[in-house]
Amino acid sequence: MDFVADIGRTASGVERDASGKAFMTSSREAASPTSARVVEIAGLSLVFETGDSPVHALSNIDLSVEAGEFVSFIGPSGCGKTTLLRVIADLEQPTGGHLTVNGLSAEAARLARQYGYVFQAPALYPWRTIARNVTLPLEVFKLPKAEREERAKTYLDLVGLTDFAGKYPWQLSGGMQQRASIARALCFEPKLLLMDEPFGALDEIVRDNLNLQLLRLWARTRKTVLFVTHSIPEAVFLSTRIVVMSPRPGRIIDVIPCDFPRDRTLDIRETPEFLKVAHRVREGLRAGHSYDE
Ligand SMILES: Nc1ncnc2c1ncn2[C@@H]1O[C@H](COP(=O)(O)OP(=O)(O)OP(=O)(O)O)[C@@H](O)[C@H]1O
Ligand SMILES: [Mg+2]
Repeated sequence: MDFVADIGRTASGVERDASGKAFMTSSREAASPTSARVVEIAGLSLVFETGDSPVHALSNIDLSVEAGEFVSFIGPSGCGKTTLLRVIADLEQPTGGHLTVNGLSAEAARLARQYGYVFQAPALYPWRTIARNVTLPLEVFKLPKAEREERAKTYLDLVGLTDFAGKYPWQLSGGMQQRASIARALCFEPKLLLMDEPFGALDEIVRDNLNLQLLRLWARTRKTVLFVTHSIPEAVFLSTRIVVMSPRPGRIIDVIPCDFPRDRTLDIRETPEFLKVAHRVREGLRAGHSYDE
């Protein structure tokens, strides 16, 4: 079973993040951008006002993402990657600058169900089985039961959880829970996917497999993907561009084009071209760090 087997149908959904704020994931029609520019960010900054001192999470971010791009964000822990995705998803408010998603404000894009979101932590409901966690947003949008179940089967199969469909989240390992949350986001087949370290907790072999499946899905459906990772090989393997961020306050310190053929296989990781891009990412990360620490 693979990602691309079930892309002909559409669905819609709504979920809530850990703070309870509603966000929606899209139908493929709803996600159709009116222009090629899916995400447009100019001079964006965000300062969290905390009890003791303000936290400067993002500083002067400029970025345009065209339809069909696969853009990875890489940077040290705490540099603002999650915050940036959350701003795009209207789950945080920037304190400066501008942002549009498919030409809409972040809030309008959220309400118009323009994207799917995979959180850094799985966020599953403990009282629902894995299958019923996956189908919950489809229930909210009243998809027929048979289609909901078929979707759950397809995507649980894809992430290797077929045998765990009837189990509860607390009966699964952390990595398995994360795979279930990936299945839930993919169930909608949204055109814009925001993915926050979706494979970070997985072992190498499962991760390689899901990287390949995600790549095939992206190549076949021309989705736009914004993808946070700590893995240089993962970023280079998946992306059309890699955004390297500095330590907090997160700034963009390099944007690296990285357009390998869409039908690439894992073997390209051994090629000189691949290693050259990986080297540039590593250099960017190194340059962003202070050696005084
Ligand atoms: N709600 C909040 N209130 C105050 N500070 C916050 C809040 N959310 C995030 N921060 C701070 O903003 C900075 C960026 O956090 P963020 O979660 O975006 O980092 P990250 O790059 O995703 O890190 P990681 O790679 O560890 O996931 C951190 O210093 C964090 O402590
Ligand atoms: Mg994060």
